[in-house]
Amino acid sequence: MKINFAAPRSLKSGTIVLPVSEGRKLTSAGQVLDRKSGGALTRAMAASRFKGRGEEHLAVLAPAKLGVARVLLIGIGKGDGERNLVQRNGGVIVAQLNAAGETEATVMVEEPGEAGARAAANLAFGARLRAYRFDKYRTKEKPEAKPTLANLTFQVKDPAAAKREFATLDKVAEAICFTRDIVSEPANVIYPETLAARALSLRKLGVEVEVLDEKKMQALGMGALLGVGQGSERPSRLVVMQWKGAPKAKNKAPIAFVGKGVTFDTGGISIKPADGMWDMKWDMGGAGVVIGLMMALAGRKANVNVVGIGGLVENMPDGNAQRPGDIVTSMSGQTIEVLNTDAEGRLVLADALWYCQDRFKPQFMVDLATLTGAIIIALGTEHAGLFSNDDKLASQLAAAGLATGEKLWRLPLGEAYDKMMDSDAADIKNISGGRDAGSITAATFIERFVNKLPWAHLDIAGVTWSKRDTAITPKGATAFGVRLLDRFVADNYER
Ligand code: BES
Ligand code: MN
Ligand code: ZN
Repeated sequence: MKINFAAPRSLKSGTIVLPVSEGRKLTSAGQVLDRKSGGALTRAMAASRFKGRGEEHLAVLAPAKLGVARVLLIGIGKGDGERNLVQRNGGVIVAQLNAAGETEATVMVEEPGEAGARAAANLAFGARLRAYRFDKYRTKEKPEAKPTLANLTFQVKDPAAAKREFATLDKVAEAICFTRDIVSEPANVIYPETLAARALSLRKLGVEVEVLDEKKMQALGMGALLGVGQGSERPSRLVVMQWKGAPKAKNKAPIAFVGKGVTFDTGGISIKPADGMWDMKWDMGGAGVVIGLMMALAGRKANVNVVGIGGLVENMPDGNAQRPGDIVTSMSGQTIEVLNTDAEGRLVLADALWYCQDRFKPQFMVDLATLTGAIIIALGTEHAGLFSNDDKLASQLAAAGLATGEKLWRLPLGEAYDKMMDSDAADIKNISGGRDAGSITAATFIERFVNKLPWAHLDIAGVTWSKRDTAITPKGATAFGVRLLDRFVADNYER
């Protein structure tokens, strides 16, 4: 799908998309078209439930005298330009036009000047995100099942301004699609080495990327991370990415993001049941988001110094796999009793986080991980879990969540939970032993590997994969976290 921005002109084919605000109020361009068609649009609205509320839509087919195939009315609610609604409407437009089999469409943006440019750019952003498809392995899909929309044009008074505004958003959209691709790929395609290779591709954007192999991690003492990967034929990797977008601030500590990158989680010897195990191909979602975030920041040349780290392992149960009861020594020096090999994400993060703070001494660290099934029980798919030892960091993240619609909900940490992780045989055990507070005890485990540094943990197990289409996210990999953290960085740490 090609996205274009153009100055207003009259149209003779394809679909005209018209915004309508609540109370069935047409724009001035809409009123002109309505008159020309002998009131076809107002009559269609009157004959339907369409009121112009956000995300509502109504297609008017072959309206008299307009020459176009259809007019698609899109509800914009109050019409105040609320960014998330504008983006969602961009997605609704794409979904409706593809369902209708349309190939060409033009959206008539009414607002003049800067507001118009912003509306057009955000509609285009939503359109691009909804148009995403992971279909590379579908060789026999019937043409009529494929998306049809080839050209989506935004008519706006200042197309050059809209194009400029979109250029930045498009970098973020590109990064989101890059993350969705990585997360969607099956585990025979994406494993630690190939995931590291995707990260290495960011070098062309100016991101410094290093890949640590098992020998290097051994030398660093990363027994927790390596223990998870030891049952796999695929060697583990640690990717370290640096975007130095603020050279003048090079003496200031960077900010850091760390992702769980379990390319497949069988559970190991504590093996998972067969049903649904395929979902565990997206257990590298945290690392996928960190890689995509680095791509977004580098793509839009963000004025900030950022470190991104991914702990990449495959959790498999072979003859060399770690056993329940094994005790490993982490890079921090703390020993861990591995009572359940399926609680592996926290083991990976323990070493990745320790390495991050040890080497980079960042201002703070935010980790992302598809860490616990329990967070899905607690929050479903509406919010990701937020845990933090720092109120300021937590509120900045929560605010970015509200601003982008990638919402977070904070859960507690604390000494009583922490105590539940004490081991009889080692410094800490990797499961509490009961089902109580499963997401919190997991976060608490991780906290023991954070050394007096502001830190936040996002448990994204419920939001990384969507079972249904939403306005700007087709079902499948969501890349939840890229938009959120891009905004979090832009609003708090640039300049
Ligand atoms: N990757 C899983 C968590 C998960 C579950 C992610 C469902 C996405 C969807 C994680 O490694 C895991 O297995 N967690 C266990 C922890 C338990 C053994 C304490 C869980 O949640 O059951
Ligand atoms: Mn697991
Ligand atoms: Zn896992």
